Amino acid sequence: MSTAITLPPPPDAEATVLPILIAPHPALKTKARAVRDDDAAAVRALLPRLFATMYRAPGIGLAAPQVGVGLRVAVVDLQADNVRTPVALINPEVVAASEELATREEGCLSLPGQYADVTRPAQVRVRFLDESGARREITADGLLAACLQHEIDHLDGVLFIDRLSALRRNMILRRLAKEQRQKAK
Ligand code: NI
Repeated sequence: MSTAITLPPPPDAEATVLPILIAPHPALKTKARAVRDDDAAAVRALLPRLFATMYRAPGIGLAAPQVGVGLRVAVVDLQADNVRTPVALINPEVVAASEELATREEGCLSLPGQYADVTRPAQVRVRFLDESGARREITADGLLAACLQHEIDHLDGVLFIDRLSALRRNMILRRLAKEQRQKAK
C-alpha cells in the first residue's frame, strides 16, 4: 500500500535544520517504508536537511524517522579527525554480520544525554543506494559498524535502549523524561 509522505515545511532563514524527535515519540517506534522511484524528489530535498540537522546537533548519524519522515533514509558521518565524509544511506540493509560481537557505548540524538553499552555484531556488510541512486556496499567494523546498525535500527522503529534489559531501558526513559521536564521549565 502506498503512503503519502509529508515532508517538513520548507527551510527558512534557519536553512535546513529540522527538529529532532525525542523518545518516547511514537514516530520513533514506527517502521519506515522503503524508498521508491517516485520518492526521488522527496529524498533529494530531505538529504541536505538530514545532514545539516546531524552536523548541527552534533551527531555522527541521523535517520529520517528521527525528524518524523517515515522513509528508509539515514545519514552517517563519523567526522574522524574533524574531516567530513558524509554517507547517505537509502534503503540500507545488513547483508552479512559477524558472529563476533562488540560492545561499545552508544548515544542517540533522540535520547539526548543518555548513554549505555550496546552489544552488536562487530563487523557488518551493508548494502544501500547512495544519493545518486547507485547501488553500494560498505564493509564496516568498529564505530562505523555500530553506527550503521544503530541507524538501520531506527528505520525499523528500534532504539538502542530496545537492545538493553527492560530495567535499564526504563531507567534511561525515566531519567530522560525528568531531564526534559527540567529543561522545559
Ligand atoms: Ni539514534
